[in-house]
Amino acid sequence: MSIIEARGLKKVFKQAVKDPGLGGAIKHLLTQQYREKYAVEGIDLTIEEGETVAYVGPNGAGKSTTIKMLCGVLVPSGGEILVDGRVPHKQRMENAQHIGAVFGQRTQLWWDIPVRESLTLLRDIYQVPPAVFKKNLDGFTELLGMESFLHLSARKLSLGQRMRADLAAALLHDPKIVYLDEPTIGLDVAVKHRIRDFIKEMNRDKGTTMMLTTHDLGDIENLCERLVIIDQGRIIYDGKLQKVKDAFARERTIHTQLSAPIVGAEELFADMPEVAVESSAGDEKEGDSVPSLSIKFDRFRCTASEIVKRVMNHGEVVDFRIDEPSIEEIITRVYEGQLDSAALSEAGKGRE
Ligand SMILES: Nc1ncnc2c1ncn2[C@@H]1O[C@H](COP(=O)(O)OP(=O)(O)O)[C@@H](O)[C@H]1O
Ligand SMILES: [Mg+2]
Repeated sequence: MSIIEARGLKKVFKQAVKDPGLGGAIKHLLTQQYREKYAVEGIDLTIEEGETVAYVGPNGAGKSTTIKMLCGVLVPSGGEILVDGRVPHKQRMENAQHIGAVFGQRTQLWWDIPVRESLTLLRDIYQVPPAVFKKNLDGFTELLGMESFLHLSARKLSLGQRMRADLAAALLHDPKIVYLDEPTIGLDVAVKHRIRDFIKEMNRDKGTTMMLTTHDLGDIENLCERLVIIDQGRIIYDGKLQKVKDAFARERTIHTQLSAPIVGAEELFADMPEVAVESSAGDEKEGDSVPSLSIKFDRFRCTASEIVKRVMNHGEVVDFRIDEPSIEEIITRVYEGQLDSAALSEAGKGRE
């Protein structure tokens, strides 16, 4: 059995229909008009133990709502969920013993007591055996670099410190599943890396299943092999990160280093409209830059070796490298509707 199974999962919210301003508010009081808003519109999602899944989509897509239902915080309006054999909203307490959740926008630490005390309270709530608690607290303190602020109250922490403390809090009881909702939002690069390393380590060493929503595409590339994209309450892609790249990242750029500049490099691919010479450097200034040539091409229409061969016919190639578009560019295009969802779901089929 899979560790997370959701079938036809739905959540409808009632939203007040009102005009702006005080007049609108009063009118709403009198008319009490609501409309139904589907935040999640029939999601099927199966996650295996030990997977790290990136759950991404534009603002308002339904990511947090899905996670709240998986945590048992929200009751679904339709469909079924089974998390580690439990129905989360019906077995909330039991479910809580086996999961950890971090919401970037909110803390589960107590504001006014030292972090160390908050963690001790959570130990008691989750009934973590003392030896496990000690081992985890020591380990997390080191991995997350928390020593310097364990004695401070959550109120006094910087955002990065608070996120680290929250991660530790969510993982103290060795949960099998961890949901991370925007865990790196607003953090500086150093803290982000620390958190990524920590998440990786938990997944590798303890086999913790991780589901992560993030706007940080670096998080996705670094942490997740599987990508689930949700838009307007529906999953529009579910598959390997690499597959999205393969299917949609048509263009490649070859950067070549030459022993000497090629005269007329711009005209080298004049007969191939799908190939563009992006930049050639080194032909003007002497000595301070290596002669090079960057060529962009559509890998569905010609191959890297064709490009390199032609360059080699005109000059001596010392070295070359091929760049593919970042997942960032690809997902941005998905968000902007430049990749149609039919093609996306086609690419998602046959997921192993
Ligand atoms: N408690 C709520 N009441 C009414 N509407 C809500 C509530 N929570 C979320 N929504 C709406 O549901 C949609 C999905 O929200 P959410 O799951 O938070 O999106 P995401 O996390 O992907 O940004 C949004 O349109 C949001 O306004
Ligand atoms: Mg959200």
